Amino acid sequence: MTTAASMPVLDKGLANTIAAESAMSFIDGQNGILEYVGIDIDALARNSTFEEVVYLLWHRKLPTRGELDAFASGIRAEYDLPEVMWDVIKTIPTSAAPMHALRTLVSALALSDPEADDPSPAANERKGVRLLAKAPALIANFDRHRKGRDFIKPDSSLSIASAFLTMLNGQEPTETMAKALDVCLILHADHGFNASTFAALVTISTLSDMYSAVTTAIGTLKGPLHGGANEAVMHMLTEIGQMDRVEPYIREKLDRKERVMGFGHRVYKAYDPRASYLKTFAERLAEDTGNRELYEMSRRIDQIMHEAVAAKGIHPNVDFYSATTYYSIGLDIDLFTPMFVMSRIGGWVGHCIEQLADNKLIRPRCEYIGPHEAAYVPIEGR
Ligand code: ACO
Repeated sequence: MTTAASMPVLDKGLANTIAAESAMSFIDGQNGILEYVGIDIDALARNSTFEEVVYLLWHRKLPTRGELDAFASGIRAEYDLPEVMWDVIKTIPTSAAPMHALRTLVSALALSDPEADDPSPAANERKGVRLLAKAPALIANFDRHRKGRDFIKPDSSLSIASAFLTMLNGQEPTETMAKALDVCLILHADHGFNASTFAALVTISTLSDMYSAVTTAIGTLKGPLHGGANEAVMHMLTEIGQMDRVEPYIREKLDRKERVMGFGHRVYKAYDPRASYLKTFAERLAEDTGNRELYEMSRRIDQIMHEAVAAKGIHPNVDFYSATTYYSIGLDIDLFTPMFVMSRIGGWVGHCIEQLADNKLIRPRCEYIGPHEAAYVPIEGR
């Protein structure tokens, strides 16, 4: 924040700072509204596809049939990994957490891209397409590697969601499962200047490169106060274990002033519209996959939290019901946050391209609170 006299003021957590302009997503935190380029997230989740949503975010308009076909086939043509990357995957310890592996693998993609340091908008979009296209093969095949399974190459006749699940499980998903993952990818694709997007922008604003920006963002998304919350929610549900333990568990947590993962948001003080959509979606999916109790436990947590803290503006966020959804799709818990990466690459790349079109180095100030005019004491005298 800057006052009229251009004096910076302290704004911890940058909660009241508008750091730049963006035409990608609009969030009304008081009324629980999220739009991508003006289109309500609910309409997109119901009618669109992840590939179409990324086109929308990058080009600020819905594509025609021809534009969408060209965009989607451009992505599919980039699904496969450079030969060296299959060897890189094999070098990663099988005990590594997928988010650490993914951050490393995305960074390694730059090593064999001759355009890695080309800053032109066209090259940056091509790199965005590559990142978006190759993330599914990296995540699925790291998972195969750690489980001692043979690699599976991506099938370029499939959508991103279907190609990923096919590599992961060794068979094509049902239409319901592919649709479920596609909807999750749509809902997570962009969200203003969230922490990981902001981290990507700090990196790209130094005129570094797209791979560095996305690698930075992955490291930032991983934290449990951000994208890592979906895994934390699932661990909490597993720890609770059964319905009659929900109430004492949550009430004790609140009494100890601990955070309940998957609740609260810096911007939303009303129900997160992504959570509203996922709530009904997760219910259907849990029913179909024999995970009804898990959904019921989530609903009960939601009710208890509503009674206890809704007045403080704390509601479920996108991570809360996405945990049940991913579990019902059959994903291992530590693959939940990598799903967020697969989707949010769309947002990160779009924001980086937007930033570079009118770049200014992002470099805030801090308020120094240490001493002044301190004497330098030689080491022998300390
Ligand atoms: N459970 C219980 N109380 C909470 C929660 C929660 N999940 N979240 C916030 N609060 C309380 C805080 O204790 C604080 O109470 P107080 O005023 O009595 O001290 C008040 O609400 C404000 O909390 P802050 O941490 O100041 O709010 P901030 O905007 O900084 O935090 C955050 C937002 C980090 C998301 C927080 O709500 C949280 O930790 N949630 C749990 C983690 C989570 O689900 N993260 C995912 C966010 S969505 C995403 O990144 C995709």
